[in-house]
Amino acid sequence: MPTTDWNLERWDQRYHWNDGGDIWSNAWGSVEMHWHATLLPRIHRYVPAESMLEIGPGYGRWTAFLKDLCSRLSLVDLSPKCIQACRERFGESDDIAYHVNDGRSLEMIDDDSIDFVFSFDSLVHVELEVLESYLRQLCSKLRKDGVGVFHHSNAGEYARYFKVLKLVPLPKSWLRLIGIGTRRHARALSVTAEGFEALCRAAGLRCLSQEIIQLARPASPRLHLHLREGGLLLARPVRAGPEPALHE
Ligand SMILES: C[S@@+](CC[C@H](N)C(=O)[O-])C[C@H]1O[C@@H](n2cnc3c(N)ncnc32)[C@H](O)[C@@H]1O
Repeated sequence: MPTTDWNLERWDQRYHWNDGGDIWSNAWGSVEMHWHATLLPRIHRYVPAESMLEIGPGYGRWTAFLKDLCSRLSLVDLSPKCIQACRERFGESDDIAYHVNDGRSLEMIDDDSIDFVFSFDSLVHVELEVLESYLRQLCSKLRKDGVGVFHHSNAGEYARYFKVLKLVPLPKSWLRLIGIGTRRHARALSVTAEGFEALCRAAGLRCLSQEIIQLARPASPRLHLHLREGGLLLARPVRAGPEPALHE
């Protein structure tokens, strides 16, 4: 858990998408602030880029920014409803290609064709085996100097905590009342920051930077558990050769 079937049911059928997912940026004040203050500063060295791929665009919260930073953008999501929503929002054009996939395949993307891959708030919900499948393919889809930024789960760091929590014979709401964190926000339990970085290496990608980030807004300020919920990792194919020093 969360499986690919869970993701498909959740995002294609159960989630209301009333505000297109903008609510997930509330802690920043707005989607614009979230992008300009938090995401863009971390990727500005790599954009604009000619050809981009976004995995898990949902209703296009980040697509709205990415599309203006590239000449060609491919969107891949396992939810037909999300891809349809993006089509309606951004329209048909030669610049944007829309793809529904099976939650792990990138066969619709040409090898050696992508300069920048982006995924934020989506792959936190997929387990290690799905990440492995994407990373292995991405190594050949990325151009030599291409870069990917991946937001991934770190809930594996709390796997023991959640295992013990399951044994406590009390309703979760009671536990929260006494300040015990019970929510893991559907983050994949098999993934840790170290595990994800190791997967990148095994797939032929070099980690340029990795940050562990905290959930923006803990459910309660008294929560004992402040989930360091995930990481943001920048990676590029090893075949690109050594990285220049930052000041070069
Ligand atoms: C929480 S929404 C986030 C959407 C968007 N990234 C945003 O931040 O607004 C998760 C999205 O990831 C997609 N998704 C989940 N698992 C996926 C997978 N294995 N492959 C591709 N897309 C996936 C869902 O269909 C959904 O569109």
